[in-house]
Amino acid sequence: EKGTYPHYMLKEIDEQPAVMRKIIQAYQDDNEKLTIKPEILDALQEADRLHIIAAGTSYHAGLIGKEYIEKMAGIPVEVHIASEFGYNTPLLTEKPMFIFISQSGETADSRQVLVKIKKLGHASLTITNVAGSTLSREADHTLLLHAGPEIAVASTKAYTAQLAVLSILAAVTAEARGRELGFDLVQELGIVANAMQAQVDAKEEMEQIARDFLSTARNCFFIGRIFDYFVGLEGALKLKEISYIQAEGFAGGELKHGTIALIEEGTPVIAIATQEVVNLNIRGNVKEVAARGANPCIITMEGLQEDGDNHVLPKVHEMLTPLVAVIPLQLISYYAALHRDCDVDKPRNLAKSVTVE
Ligand code: F6R
Repeated sequence: EKGTYPHYMLKEIDEQPAVMRKIIQAYQDDNEKLTIKPEILDALQEADRLHIIAAGTSYHAGLIGKEYIEKMAGIPVEVHIASEFGYNTPLLTEKPMFIFISQSGETADSRQVLVKIKKLGHASLTITNVAGSTLSREADHTLLLHAGPEIAVASTKAYTAQLAVLSILAAVTAEARGRELGFDLVQELGIVANAMQAQVDAKEEMEQIARDFLSTARNCFFIGRIFDYFVGLEGALKLKEISYIQAEGFAGGELKHGTIALIEEGTPVIAIATQEVVNLNIRGNVKEVAARGANPCIITMEGLQEDGDNHVLPKVHEMLTPLVAVIPLQLISYYAALHRDCDVDKPRNLAKSVTVE
C-alpha cells in the first residue's frame, strides 16, 4: 500500500535507507560478519571469469558490480545487456560463471540467456528481489535483495539494493580469496544508510532543482567519471522514462568527441562529482559545457565541494557513492515528471517486467 504517499515511486525512494539496514542484517551471520552461502562462494571461486547479465536499471547496477568484484575480489568480470548476449554470444573461457541481476526475476531477455548457458553447462547465480521468480528457480543459486515489493515501474530501491548486495558479494569473495579490503563494509554501508536518509530528506531542494533546470528543458545531459559515469547513465534513464525529457549519460571525457555539439544556450547538464581522482577533470568538463551556454548543475560530495555547487552529499566511501548519489537524481526525475503532469508510477509504453524478448 502506498499509504499517505501520492505515488509508489516516492514511497520506494524513501524506503532506501531502511532497505540498506535490512540488507546489512540479512547478510550478517551470528557474529555480525558479512556472509553468503558457502556453495555460492565456492562457485564464485571456481570461476575464471564472471559474466553479469541484465537489462535497463539492473544493467546499470551491473556496471558498478563489475567494478566492485574486480577491485575487491580480483576476478575479471564482463557486463552484458541480456538481449545482446542472447544473439551475439562473446568468446567464453573454460569456467565462466553467470550472474543474472533482475529485480523481477522474470525478464525474458535474461531468461533466454540462462537457458542458453545452462545448456552449455555453466554455473549461474540470480540476484533478484522476488524469491521464487523464474530466474531464481532456474539458476543454480540465488541472492535476494530484501527490498520489499517494488510497484512503481521506474526502479529505485531495487537499484540501490542491487549495489549493496553486489558490494557484499565482492567483499565476501575478496575475504575468501585472502585479499585485504582495507575498510569495514558493514560500517561503510551504515554510513551510506545515514547519507541516504539525508538525501530523501532533501525533497524540497530537489524539487527546486527540477524546477530551475528542467521545467522547460527539451533535453538533459548527465556527465560523470568512474562511478559517477555509471550513476549518470541511471539518472538519464530515470529522467527519460518518467518525464519523457530526452536524456543521455556520458563519460565526462567523451563530451569533446562529439556530444558537445549538442550543447545549446540553456541546455541542462547535471554533473556528478564524487570521485576525488577525477574531480578536477569533471569540473573541467563542466567549464567546457558552460562556455558553450549550458546550464550546469553540480552534485558533489563533502571534501570536494566548490563555491556554487548545487548539492553536496555527505562523505561516504568512494566506491559506495553511487548508492547515495543516485537518490537526488531519482528525486529530480520524480519532480520533473510531476511538474509535467506525467503518470509517475505508470509511464507510457512501459511495463514493470518485460516478459517478451
Ligand atoms: C527502469 C526499469 C527497467 C528495468 C528492466 C529490467 O526503471 O525498471 O529498465 O530495470 O526492465 O528489469 P528487471 O530488473 O526486473 O530484470
